[in-house]
Amino acid sequence: MITRETIDEVKNRIDIVDVISDFVSLKKSGQNYKALSPFNNEKSPSFFVVPSKGIFKDFSSGKGGDAFTFVMEHEKLSYAEAIRYLAKKYGVEIKEDRTQSESKEEQSERESLYILMNFAKEYYKNALLQVEEGRSIGLSYFRERGFNDRTIEKFELGYALEGWENFSKEAIAKGYNKDLLEKTGLVVKKDDGSSYDRFRGRVIFPVHNLAGKVIAFGARMLGKEKNQPKYINSPETDIYHKSDVLYGLYQAKNAIRQNDVCYLVEGYTDVISMHQADVENVVASSGTALTENQIKLIRRFTENITVLFDGDAAGIKAALRGIDMILKGGLNVRVLLFPDNDDPDSFSRKVGTTEFQKYLKEHTQDFVSFKANLFAKEAAGDPIKKAESIKEIVSSIAVIPDPIKRSVYIQETSHLLKISEPVLLSELNKILIQERRKTDKDKSREPDAQETPIPVEDIEPQVKVDAQSLVHYQERETIRLLLNYADQSVEQSKLTDFLVHELEDVEFNNPIFKDIYEKFKTAASSNQPIDSHYFLHEGNDAVKAAVSDLITPRYDTSPHWSDKYHIYIPKEKDVLNEMALSNVLRLKFRVVQKMMEDNLQKVKQAESSGNWEELDRALEMQTGLKKAESELAGSLGIVVAK
Ligand code: UTP
Ligand code: MN
Repeated sequence: MITRETIDEVKNRIDIVDVISDFVSLKKSGQNYKALSPFNNEKSPSFFVVPSKGIFKDFSSGKGGDAFTFVMEHEKLSYAEAIRYLAKKYGVEIKEDRTQSESKEEQSERESLYILMNFAKEYYKNALLQVEEGRSIGLSYFRERGFNDRTIEKFELGYALEGWENFSKEAIAKGYNKDLLEKTGLVVKKDDGSSYDRFRGRVIFPVHNLAGKVIAFGARMLGKEKNQPKYINSPETDIYHKSDVLYGLYQAKNAIRQNDVCYLVEGYTDVISMHQADVENVVASSGTALTENQIKLIRRFTENITVLFDGDAAGIKAALRGIDMILKGGLNVRVLLFPDNDDPDSFSRKVGTTEFQKYLKEHTQDFVSFKANLFAKEAAGDPIKKAESIKEIVSSIAVIPDPIKRSVYIQETSHLLKISEPVLLSELNKILIQERRKTDKDKSREPDAQETPIPVEDIEPQVKVDAQSLVHYQERETIRLLLNYADQSVEQSKLTDFLVHELEDVEFNNPIFKDIYEKFKTAASSNQPIDSHYFLHEGNDAVKAAVSDLITPRYDTSPHWSDKYHIYIPKEKDVLNEMALSNVLRLKFRVVQKMMEDNLQKVKQAESSGNWEELDRALEMQTGLKKAESELAGSLGIVVAK
């Protein structure tokens, strides 16, 4: 038997979209995903995945359930086999019980941990509201902080009485055994065998799991005694893994779904104060660094996170780290800092509900502006710092898994910092290629289990930049090289001969470029070289306009760059070899991508009209093109979306 613990661990790590994506190519559709049913042949998608609920539903076959069910159905596995499969996928170590009875015991032990935690929660609540000490100390503390009755009830706040054994005595009197008290961490055992209550003379913040069960407590001291930690927290237990929990998620999840954004704060009191200011879509990482699993938890409810931190150095550092974690997790991140060392708690109380909500609306920045502003202060007047800050921003963009999002952020950065996109892109590519090398080295990749045919959905190029205009750009670049450097030598021949030879099987799209190119080609074969002057005299108006445009030097930035940023930009002539070669590769690369885009239309048409022969042909073509694309990409050192 696989242990309950293992199963829960697997459950915690599962992301249903990720699990199903291993088998089905999902398309985003609003908050959810859809696809063609993997269980039935169908033409229009009726298979849905709802990440916020962790479920899938297939209307064509009637099947539905959670990630475990999906794996069982799809892979025809038993429950235990499905757990093993998912444990392996998520790197969870499988723990087994030797006998079944043991596992039952363990299961009931977890159950009893929950029961005891619930008892403790009720005990602390009662002490806060009914016991004189609790009312005069704990309740008045919460009142001072502005927490109202509704809030206190919603978060089930409590109070732990002074004294070493108040809670243990009560629990033992109610029949809970000592071992269990210790296992929940509510009671601490000393070396000499005696024990005492962990939480004493503190206000209590219960931590709930997604189902609303209490799994831990945080206990805050009341005064400002030195030599005492502000909070004492439950230790890790069988039911509490700190790095997989977000404080307040249980109370926030509906609001997160409704608002489609989750605010992320640092502390218990920030969460609670924001609820009091009618902002309920908020969770806290509880003073620890944000983890991958916590981000996955949020992702069940929204893809948008806004990080709220105080503006001091520590807050900013935490925000920066959080940003990259969130981006890496594929979510969208925005940032909001509070002025003058205020945190969400102090600020909301200072300015009141209306102003607070207004501040949230007006001061939220996307992460590019946030980083740009942050470094702008440091970088002012310091070119080296400025170059560093550009790197900083691009390195965050580089962790974003989605290439489309990356390119959008590159554009924004270009606008914001007034740096040309190609410069940013080359910086980005450098990082991506480095990363790719690293991961290639890391995983001694096992060959994939079986070669499955590529489903139609998968072939669609992911980077939806207009292939046509990329081809256009590259054709233009070829012509520009010809016009400027026709008789320079490249690879031991003249540039014209080199290009004509290399581009033998490429047909130009743009009629003007085609015209110019053909003239160069004829001239080369008849050994009567021509150059830009020829076109300026002989060409029609359109040709003249194009040519004069292309022989005007466009980038005059090099002195600026080398003086200011100590970046050396070589002159084109010095690097003509590389330029010509990479231009040939790029043009072919873009042409292949354009052909893929066109061919994909054929695939779709053939599919919808049921012309299977044609579909076969088109699919084969697509596979061939894909192969050519990745070969060209390989020679170019480009990271192509797979
Ligand atoms: P804060 O010091 O910001 O606490 O730490 P807070 O919740 O905002 O409390 P107030 O407003 O000062 O009363 C943020 C979080 O870090 C964790 C807690 O989860 C806290 O909510 N923390 C902090 C600890 O676990 N132990 C500590 O000693 C301090
Ligand atoms: Mn705080």
